[in-house]
Amino acid sequence: MSSDRLKKAREYERVFGEEISWEERPLFHVTPTVGWLNDPNGFSLYKGEIHLFYQYHPYGTQWGSMHWGHLKSRDFIRWERLPAALAPEREYDRNGCFSGSAVELPDGRHLLMYTGVSGEREGRARQTQCIALGDGLNYQSFSGNPVLTGENLPEGGSAEDFRDPKIWWDEEEKRFFAVAVNRTSDTSGAVLLFGSRDGMRWEYLATVDRCRNEYGKMWECPDMFELDGMELLLVSPMEMQAKGLEFHSGNEVIGLMGRYEKETYSFRREKVVPVDLGLDFYAPQTLLMPDGRRIMIAWMQSWESSRFCPEGAKWFGMLTIPRELRIIDGRLIQNPVRELEAYRIHPVIYREQKISGASESGKREGRIRFPGIEGRILDMTVRIRLEKGCRRFTVYFAEDARYYTALTYWPGENILHLDRTWSGLRYNIVNQRKLRVREKNGELKLRFILDRFSAEIFVNDGEQALSACLYTPGKARGISFEADGCAVIDIEKYEIRDFSAAGNM
Ligand code: FRU
Repeated sequence: MSSDRLKKAREYERVFGEEISWEERPLFHVTPTVGWLNDPNGFSLYKGEIHLFYQYHPYGTQWGSMHWGHLKSRDFIRWERLPAALAPEREYDRNGCFSGSAVELPDGRHLLMYTGVSGEREGRARQTQCIALGDGLNYQSFSGNPVLTGENLPEGGSAEDFRDPKIWWDEEEKRFFAVAVNRTSDTSGAVLLFGSRDGMRWEYLATVDRCRNEYGKMWECPDMFELDGMELLLVSPMEMQAKGLEFHSGNEVIGLMGRYEKETYSFRREKVVPVDLGLDFYAPQTLLMPDGRRIMIAWMQSWESSRFCPEGAKWFGMLTIPRELRIIDGRLIQNPVRELEAYRIHPVIYREQKISGASESGKREGRIRFPGIEGRILDMTVRIRLEKGCRRFTVYFAEDARYYTALTYWPGENILHLDRTWSGLRYNIVNQRKLRVREKNGELKLRFILDRFSAEIFVNDGEQALSACLYTPGKARGISFEADGCAVIDIEKYEIRDFSAAGNM
């Protein structure tokens, strides 16, 4: 039985979602049915299909009262839209159904665990953890809600900042676990671990790690799992301060890598790594596939830049391409899900192409183009070998006479520089990012995933990733190369088969 606010949201998205044409959306990246999207939620397998929910405000392109939007897929690339799953309509979530996660229960029900934000008391909104149970389409609130409240917090924990539960089933322990974030008495965040036998009755077990005002302030959206023999704790800190080229200011995502002792619930942090070095990436969530792959998806946006929605847009907010995660030689590696490869068509391949003679930076004459290398929906890998004395190498994309976004490699300092200043954005938000990269066997390998409104770049087979939204008009389809000095490159480019006319999304 749908309640009034959910019914209203479902009706609204049915009518207004239909009004958005295929061309107004990316092809294979998730967008809201209509209105606003932020964090991915409930990324889970249910009855053999991949379910994905998202923070959703259907009624506008800005953040508002939080619902859960819903989609499902069989391969992470083609998504089928489903009606909204949750609306804020109970006493304990009437100010929003905030982020959370999902699992399939042994009895066949799909359990959603989310943060209910309740009405303000003395000017303070309370955050509690709540449960909804359903069949993959319709969800009912659990009668025992909320299942975790301020009462369950360790001393000093704030009941106003207690959110984003990520649940999983531990087969060895025959127990559910969940991590959630909490603000501690030092005013910064912590990740708390909870346990439950049935997924409904929960108890506090331990504080897994704390910010101690070192990596930002409050933390959001935790996830925790074993990966290639290590434990990885993902968190999204707010109010980070830039540190070298590794971490930038504002909202950021970090990976805490370490060792975890299951018996004592103790996590020993060994290393902190950035997760995505681009411009738009926040609040990732992962899913473990039956074949052992750990897949991560994130909001391709950041809170700072998300206030600027292109004029006339009917939706705002996208998710990244789902990415396969690995830890190799202590590095976090991420690559687009291999399922994308099945959609690649029309290969255009060039080998050993010489690029040289850049003109003054910013002029188009020195840029070299290749027939068939262009487009805004594509998967393209460029391998770059610089000859001695080459000072700079640039790939321009989403380019025409007026616009471009550039990725420049400065070998002298080993710096890669992403710049969308001239991409057509009408706001002065952060448009550039620099990161340190390394050449491997004298080569830098860059894989570009473009999908109309975004670029995701994977460096050296996923050693680093950069995500950025692009608001450049679709007619800017050019790709060109430029070297100040001499470089030799290989290009392998594919279009992505346009399945949009066939139905879903
Ligand atoms: C992260 C976040 C979460 C919260 C949600 C609200 O982007 O702030 O902590 O649950 O968004 O929409």
